Amino acid sequence: MNANELRKKYIDFYKTKAHTQIPSGSLQPENDPTVLFTTAGMHPLVPYLMGAHHPSGKRLVNSQKCIRTQDIDEVGDDWHCTFFEMLGNWSLGDYFKEEAISWTYEFLTKVLPFKPERLACTVFAGEAAIPFDETSYNAWLKLGIPKERVFKLPREDNFWGPVGGAGPCGPDSETFFITKDHCVLKNPECSPACTCGRYVEICNNVFMEYEKKQDGNFVKLPKPNVDFGMGLLRVCSILSGSSSVYESSIYDPAMTFIKEKAPTLNKQEQRIVVDHVQAAMFAIADGVLPSNVGAGYIVRRVLRRAFRLANKAHLEPQYIDRLVDSFIGVYDSHYQEVTSKRNALVGAIREEEEKFSKALGQGLKHLEKELTRLTGNQIDGKLAFYMFETFGFPLEVTQEIAKERGLSVDITAYNQAFEEHQAKSRMAGEKLFKGGLADTSEESTKLHTATHLLHEALRRVLGTHVEQKGSNITPERLRFDFSHPDKMTPEQIKAVETIVNEQINRGLEIDLKDMSLEEAKAKGAIGLFENKYGDRVNVYFMGDFSTEVCGGPHVKNTRELGGFKIQKEEASSRGVRRIKAVVNG
Ligand code: ALA
Repeated sequence: MNANELRKKYIDFYKTKAHTQIPSGSLQPENDPTVLFTTAGMHPLVPYLMGAHHPSGKRLVNSQKCIRTQDIDEVGDDWHCTFFEMLGNWSLGDYFKEEAISWTYEFLTKVLPFKPERLACTVFAGEAAIPFDETSYNAWLKLGIPKERVFKLPREDNFWGPVGGAGPCGPDSETFFITKDHCVLKNPECSPACTCGRYVEICNNVFMEYEKKQDGNFVKLPKPNVDFGMGLLRVCSILSGSSSVYESSIYDPAMTFIKEKAPTLNKQEQRIVVDHVQAAMFAIADGVLPSNVGAGYIVRRVLRRAFRLANKAHLEPQYIDRLVDSFIGVYDSHYQEVTSKRNALVGAIREEEEKFSKALGQGLKHLEKELTRLTGNQIDGKLAFYMFETFGFPLEVTQEIAKERGLSVDITAYNQAFEEHQAKSRMAGEKLFKGGLADTSEESTKLHTATHLLHEALRRVLGTHVEQKGSNITPERLRFDFSHPDKMTPEQIKAVETIVNEQINRGLEIDLKDMSLEEAKAKGAIGLFENKYGDRVNVYFMGDFSTEVCGGPHVKNTRELGGFKIQKEEASSRGVRRIKAVVNG
């Protein structure tokens, strides 16, 4: 089964169940400082799962680009990748458990050729205030899955979310493919919770009925939702009879290349190189360049790990072009952002490679020297941190070199050195991981509204070439990146502040209307039109002042903002300026 065919079959099936296809969101979460990357299909939909109106309706389907790094040590085994596509469908307060489960079953066994006898399911067993999911249990039995293959499992296995500390979440019901039975022979207790490899998860229906609050309490959401997710390549590989996602139509050309050119790397190392280059190219295409902070640092880490392995295998630098091209080739133009930015992606990856290659040789020499003095078999965390600080070696790189020599790294000491350094250089950004996904607090909502006023005011003062290049909101401040070639003068900054404060004082009503994308453009709405929205969009009107396509949320009247102040104007990257500002309502 080819991945492009499977994606199409899935989306077409859910369209027959009255779902509207929406585009994949960016890998860079918008207005969400609590997570570095989009990690699941539900991620860009959080405001709607919490009850906001979605312009494309109550039944949605898509294939979402995701990056997950929490399993980075497992990348390169049979089933884990950093970058992957998640097929997803959602009910926003519409159908619920029975329909969701029966459509999952219909899709797997009628559209796809899964044999019912090779499927197993799990449901939430119940715990404290959240009861056993009897409806899902009975739904599976009704479809003919026998009791022995519907497992009741506890919270750690069958409760999904929230991502971050707070947000929408709920009990889930997972479906597994039964691969082999070696474990069950030895262990009669074997269930999908066992890690022996007998059961491979293929998809998950999350019944999002709850919001977990910052204080840890669960409250019922206004309407219950379904959040379904299925790993595209997992299903593809299983259906092709292979036992790894790295043996699939998406990875085949890249793996063939790396096996031929880097035969000295072991299987996992070869997979790491191709996976990491793929993750970096998709992240860069969504605007995350390698850097020393946040998501940019993840991109730097995965790239440098790939570079070190490539260096070990004496790969010629053109391997970067070849890998990028192999991935572009297999997606069949599905991801225009990588196809159209091909040269820029190769350029950015090569630039990072050049930066690192200078330090790599020196760093390796230094490490070798230190290792000759080592007593015992653990590398001091301080040395690992020195390798990072001086030669730009991410921890994984030092760890891998250590492992190749039968050594380990003292991670606690490394983290301690890292934290001390952060505290010293005030890089800590303590607020970064506070709170949950898509912060909808009152403060953030005000700042979100202020961002629209700022955007429009900038266009009036500087010109209509001003376009949003990034937005990041915490409860304390907004941060807005926009295209503009020059540093703003103090007079321009003052003029922008004055306009925004005037609009706050005018007490503009804020209206939300959903309309077609064409209508929104005709009304002069501003927004990021690059391949990002579905056919219908939410448009926020702030009186007669600003019209912008946006997911929200916003306050009801601009007066709630109280006042507005720009704290900083600085360069963000070439041709892009950055403003940090606050409100005082
Ligand atoms: N959000 C759910 C998951 O990632 C579907 O498994």
